Amino acid sequence: MTDRPTKSQPQAALSTNLVLVGFMGSGKSSVGRLLAARLGFRFVDTDALVVEAAGMPIAEIFATYGEAAFREYEAEALESLLDQNRQRLVVATGGGIVTRESNLPLLHRLGFVAGLTASEDVIFERVSRNKKRPLLNTPNPRETVSNLLAVRAPLYAAAADFLVETSIRSHAEVAEQIIAEARRRFSE
Ligand code: S3P
Repeated sequence: MTDRPTKSQPQAALSTNLVLVGFMGSGKSSVGRLLAARLGFRFVDTDALVVEAAGMPIAEIFATYGEAAFREYEAEALESLLDQNRQRLVVATGGGIVTRESNLPLLHRLGFVAGLTASEDVIFERVSRNKKRPLLNTPNPRETVSNLLAVRAPLYAAAADFLVETSIRSHAEVAEQIIAEARRRFSE
């Protein structure tokens, strides 16, 4: 027997939660689920926590109480994850979480923040498949995506510890890149 490393040798444990930020349609939920499955971490989605706390779908929160109320719920969801002091989480966040400056230190306290980016064309193509996003329920959703992206792209870049471009990568490739970078920085 030798001590030579083999492919099946277990990798060092990852000692951080993973937090995903990025625009709607950047792949946070799909990549997040994959990351959680690969690492044996638990997957959490702040949008799902908000829906649970409010007892209604996101579109209804926006329609009934407005975006500001949604942002309150979202910040509370983030704080609740920190309060529980839980480890081995992959947290997918809503695309607007970076618009509230006070959320940024909370994201970093929670874990390693990976920012998922994609070109405007790819984002538009992806979000067009799902009509449930209230912010894109406008007369010209293409223009809305363009305007929101212009404002938010710098916010994701500033909030993230690491950016991954997803336009021409599979979810699996994006997940692998994030794991590799997180291991480089946070392996025990
Ligand atoms: C939002 C993104 C949505 C959801 C809400 C607002 C945004 O989440 O939080 O509709 O402001 O970009 P996804 O990024 O998961 O679509």
